Amino acid sequence: MLETIEWTPQGVVMIDQTLLPSKTVFVTCADYLEVANAIKTMIIRGAPAIGVAAAMGVAIGVQKSPDPDADFDNICATLAATRPTAVNLFWGIERMKDLYHSLNGKTPDEKREALIAEAIRVKDEDVAICREIGRHGAGLVPDNKTVLTHCNAGALATAGYGTALGVIRAAWESGKKIDVFADETRPFLQGARLTAWELMQDGIPTTLITDNMAGHFLKSGRIGCVVVGADRIAANGDVANKIGTYSVAVLAKENNVPFYVAAPISTLDLTLTDGSQIPIEERASGEVTSVFGVPVAPDGVNVCNPAFDVTPNRYVTGIITERGVATAPYTESLKALSYSAAHPAKA
Ligand code: MRU
Repeated sequence: MLETIEWTPQGVVMIDQTLLPSKTVFVTCADYLEVANAIKTMIIRGAPAIGVAAAMGVAIGVQKSPDPDADFDNICATLAATRPTAVNLFWGIERMKDLYHSLNGKTPDEKREALIAEAIRVKDEDVAICREIGRHGAGLVPDNKTVLTHCNAGALATAGYGTALGVIRAAWESGKKIDVFADETRPFLQGARLTAWELMQDGIPTTLITDNMAGHFLKSGRIGCVVVGADRIAANGDVANKIGTYSVAVLAKENNVPFYVAAPISTLDLTLTDGSQIPIEERASGEVTSVFGVPVAPDGVNVCNPAFDVTPNRYVTGIITERGVATAPYTESLKALSYSAAHPAKA
């Protein structure tokens, strides 16, 4: 299986997702600042993957610090300031903080060792979680139909296997005769560069379409369901995901095509009552005005570049998690799922 991110004695190794599919280059981050930069510049991207990167970033920060107690807050704050929307980033940092604070009284070396072990655990758990998401979602994918997906919620966006692509992989592995339509996902082209590449490597039939073709195919009767990932899901089931997801969801509902969101429990943010409270990252205008460094717009044009949008819960047929599938009313179903295994006493 493709290794998106790995802890090694030399540092945190990541596949550089800005260069795929033309070049497969692995980058070694030797300290937490390099990990923070890799998250910010999208060398690593996708909510669960940046959660793992953040956990590894905290671990390498503590490993390399001569005085971890003095540096800990700054390491965590630097990593938290990289990207604002995917809640998994903050989840990963909080998990490392909780552990660190429980290690009071231990030696710096004991703390270093415990944090490294925890970061590796976060990664290993993520792969297992994606497989469970796939297991819960595979039955929802209609046989002999096309699945439409947006952006990349695959092995590259996680520690392996993927969330939305995990559902597609599990359906494919169960013998269903499906194929995939991948939206190219302007402006960063995660669908064209990453999803198409990943699925082709697995031999899953894949067709690339531009984003503005999705409505045409959703109307055609060919698409059996849409499956996408998520960056943050509010308590009421509103879903932040890659820009363009909302349009796909509306078009899916208009054409009676089920629209599923596949995400780990760590993507839920039950502190937010609805999606209007989710911070949306605005990225550099150059991502819109140029394609691979080639200008496609007049110099000086005004640009908006929100990296995510919020799909209201009424468009979401189901949210597929590692603990099962939540359906409306989401305020109840998501709360029940989030407490089911984490806090059995409150279930
Ligand atoms: O800007 P990106 O590439 O980090 O955005 C990624 C997405 O929007 C994914 O769909 C989401 O993180 C889910 S990944 C399993």
